[in-house]
Amino acid sequence: MFMLGNTKMGSASSFSKFCLTLLLLVDVLGSTNAQLSTNFYSKSCPNLLSTVKSTVTSAINKEARMGASLLRLFFHDCFVNGCDGSVLLDDTSSFTGEKNANPNRNSARGFDVVDNIKSAVENVCPGVVSCADILAIAARDSVEILGGPKWAVKLGRRDARSASQSAANNGIPPPTSNLNRLTSRFNALGLSTRDLVALSGAHTIGQARCTSFRARIYNESNIDASFAQTRQRNCPRTTGSGDNNLAPLDIQTPTSFDNNYFKNLISQRGLLHSDQQLFNGGSTDSIVRGYGNSPSSFNSDFVAAMIKMGDISPLTGSRGEIRKNCRRVN
Ligand code: HEM
Ligand SMILES: *[C@@H]1O[C@H](CO)[C@@H](O)[C@H](O)[C@H]1NC(C)=O
Repeated sequence: MFMLGNTKMGSASSFSKFCLTLLLLVDVLGSTNAQLSTNFYSKSCPNLLSTVKSTVTSAINKEARMGASLLRLFFHDCFVNGCDGSVLLDDTSSFTGEKNANPNRNSARGFDVVDNIKSAVENVCPGVVSCADILAIAARDSVEILGGPKWAVKLGRRDARSASQSAANNGIPPPTSNLNRLTSRFNALGLSTRDLVALSGAHTIGQARCTSFRARIYNESNIDASFAQTRQRNCPRTTGSGDNNLAPLDIQTPTSFDNNYFKNLISQRGLLHSDQQLFNGGSTDSIVRGYGNSPSSFNSDFVAAMIKMGDISPLTGSRGEIRKNCRRVN
């Protein structure tokens, strides 16, 4: 029992120590409450998930690639100052945002779909749901709609009031990265090497531009010769010609979320230099083989890694804001 009635010398100081402990405890519990949770909007916006899902579904029905684009936006958001919706901000006179950073310029897409989701959500619960959370839900829905696993998304992120082009240039690894560079960036964000391989399985859907894989298909030797030839047909050798011509990241099933990405790597048909780095005689070969052999182990590791990625430095509590328009701070 606490000795509140104790009148001995020193009791005042032990009482104040007790109060301090209580305050610290409340503080810890408070910050625990400020963490993300799967039921964050269950009272404030009960129809949130169905509202997002129907907009994502119609966007993917119109264009299957949009699922890939939405998944990638979530990655590009989380890897730059955490999952805070910063990638969605347009440039302003006070900051140059992330949309025109190297990894995003002429490449990141789906912003209009995010706007549509946000409008639909604002119609049912105005001023409640963050753009950062909308990205997390849209990414989850995209994976599920394209045939991948489904998981409970953690929510409660708030939106950044700024964005940084240089943070995006430094935060998202380029496709020229070697394995060391990839693992060190993922590890710096608390993601393991296994998470890196699992998350890279996102390249089972979507497209890349010629400029992202030209050097690989003309100059590298760890590539299947007939695959290289196929890709060269629509990606001219000379820089500046056909730079934006597209090719699927997964040559087999580019609109299905499956484990063919890993089978491609095993047969030296990774499209990006960074893809093939994961199966190039190094420490991650065995992980790639494991996912290539077992869709279920890929799926469960992918889900775990997506949840970890979604936990990167969220703004919670009273930090940040709930943006009204995902492109602008309030
Ligand atoms: C491991 C490091 C990664 C690198 C170096 C990388 C690089 C790239 C590049 C260069 C493209 C093509 C961009 C273009 O040419 O326009 C791309 C596309 C894509 N990336 Fe990654 N990526 C990585 C990890 C991830 C992760 C972790 C995810 C999601 C979990 C992801 C999801 C996607 C998707 C879905 C596309 C296709 C987007 C579309 O079709 O619009 N990537 N990535
Ligand atoms: C291939 O490598 C050579 C020698 O490093 C370089 O000059 C050339 O630009 C590269 N070609 C492509 C398509 O990257």
